[in-house]
Amino acid sequence: MQPAELSENDNGNMLHGEHIILRLTYISRYNTNNPNGEVTRILAQAQENNEHNGITGALVFNHNYFLQSIEGARPIINELLRKLTKDDRHFALQVIECCEVEQRRWNKWTMKYLIPSDMNKEQALKFSTGTEFNPYLMNTAQIMMLIETLSKLQEQEEEEERTSKVKKSWFSFS
Ligand SMILES: Cc1cc2nc3c(=O)[nH]c(=O)nc-3n(C[C@H](O)[C@H](O)[C@H](O)COP(=O)(O)O)c2cc1C
Repeated sequence: MQPAELSENDNGNMLHGEHIILRLTYISRYNTNNPNGEVTRILAQAQENNEHNGITGALVFNHNYFLQSIEGARPIINELLRKLTKDDRHFALQVIECCEVEQRRWNKWTMKYLIPSDMNKEQALKFSTGTEFNPYLMNTAQIMMLIETLSKLQEQEEEEERTSKVKKSWFSFS
């Protein structure tokens, strides 16, 4: 192989920004009329594809709205955005934030699923002027804080569950 070819090949992977991590956050409305739109199916497809494409992220869903943050190689995220805008299981997609980042926020999850529940409703509504979760009424900072808060609350709940399981198993020994 000629040196010129070699260096082109070496750089080949970098030519389209594959080395740059992009984080994109958007909101959209759930299409309740689409018979193929079950959220469990969307989530399973996202997790499977993302595992394969090196994408990580978080998806917030309540009955009417999605709020999703995805991160991965820049061309891959752009390609996914193209697909997302054509996907009729949701509509009215609005990009909230799109930025290059030094490191991933959701590195542990191919797609972390977050649901505003009764437990965390009070916290979630801190960032909203209304009494219902509606990301279209929120600005970028509020949306980003909402995802962060829901994620931390869910992690706390999971940690508490783990601790109580460990305690239960201790009691069952005594
Ligand atoms: C709310 C929502 C979130 C989605 N999130 C993802 C995702 O994180 N990753 C993904 O690959 N597809 C996701 N999809 C599905 C894509 O729109 C698209 O259908 C899928 O990427 C096509 O996959 P394919 O190229 O394997 O056919 C999502 C769809 C919806 C409605």
